Amino acid sequence: MHSYADREKLAQLFAKEVALFESKHPKSAELHSKAMGPLMGGVPMSWMAKWPGPHPVYVAVAKGSRFTDVDGIEYVDFCLGDTGAMVGHSPDAAINAIAKQLTKGITFMLPTEDAAVVGQTLSDRFGLPKWQFTLTATDANRHILRYARHVTGRSKVVVHDYCYHGTVDETFAVLDDQGNTVSRENNIGPQVDPAETTIVVPFNDLDAAEKAFETGEVAAMLIEPAMTNIGIVLPEPGYLEGLRALCSKYDVILIIDETHTLSEGPGGMTARRNLEPDAVVMGKTIGAGIPAAFGMSAELTKRVQDSLHLEHIDVGGVGGTLPVTHYQWLPSEQL
Ligand SMILES: Cc1ncc(COP(=O)(O)O)c(C=O)c1O
Repeated sequence: MHSYADREKLAQLFAKEVALFESKHPKSAELHSKAMGPLMGGVPMSWMAKWPGPHPVYVAVAKGSRFTDVDGIEYVDFCLGDTGAMVGHSPDAAINAIAKQLTKGITFMLPTEDAAVVGQTLSDRFGLPKWQFTLTATDANRHILRYARHVTGRSKVVVHDYCYHGTVDETFAVLDDQGNTVSRENNIGPQVDPAETTIVVPFNDLDAAEKAFETGEVAAMLIEPAMTNIGIVLPEPGYLEGLRALCSKYDVILIIDETHTLSEGPGGMTARRNLEPDAVVMGKTIGAGIPAAFGMSAELTKRVQDSLHLEHIDVGGVGGTLPVTHYQWLPSEQL
């Protein structure tokens, strides 16, 4: 005999919890009702509206592993900005450096000395020689996928079933019951059917990856080295090494997204397990939650540079690559 949950009892308990929540969060409730005016769903990002109670709690301040809401309640934060604050909220060293830079200007369309210093640190940690910066990991993934398609002349991307790499169109795909690549449920407004851009394979399945590569259509495989967005799924022994070998065999660009797995150490799983990807992506946590970056192997860098005909300026020992910008097209007397 099955015993089913008593729905009426559950509804009563939920109502009691909601009443308790409302009694303890009057200021959050007030801010939420004000935010319903200018913000869709009363939230700055639509998914924040998926809150089980009547409204989310509003944050007043966060530091280290804790935050306090506007009603003065303190929380231990197990979310940590979905790893954006992996080393704790607002660490002093990062905040001081960011605050100092903010007083000296925020956006220039020109480089500053710091970018190359950070690039060198990332090179030392991940073993990839060349780096570029973006504002989000989503954007870093988009950039590197474009490079991969460009240098290989192929159109498709292989990803794992139920992966998450930010709002990258090609990655919102899953396998259906027949093993076909289909759009993920609730995929909002895809530009094209993801089956046209993507081949989905199960995690830990080298045969499926090879079958995808054999189509000759695959530019890149974008992976998390351990899946972290559906609980944690670890790679079986030999899986990541096997993927590396297959990518080399079929000239598929292997991109490792370390946005979450960076928690394994300063060089992420890439350095700790000697993974040798063609490119690494990371975001969020490297500057207390602000920037993101992607690094490329020497070989991939050369292919990108050669194919884009980028003139490059060698910046000493750091070896950064600066594309020729419109500044350099100005007649010299105007510079
Ligand atoms: C593995 C992975 N890559 C990329 C992203 C996207 O990060 P961002 O919000 O910086 O675009 C996420 C977000 O959670 C992620 O889990």
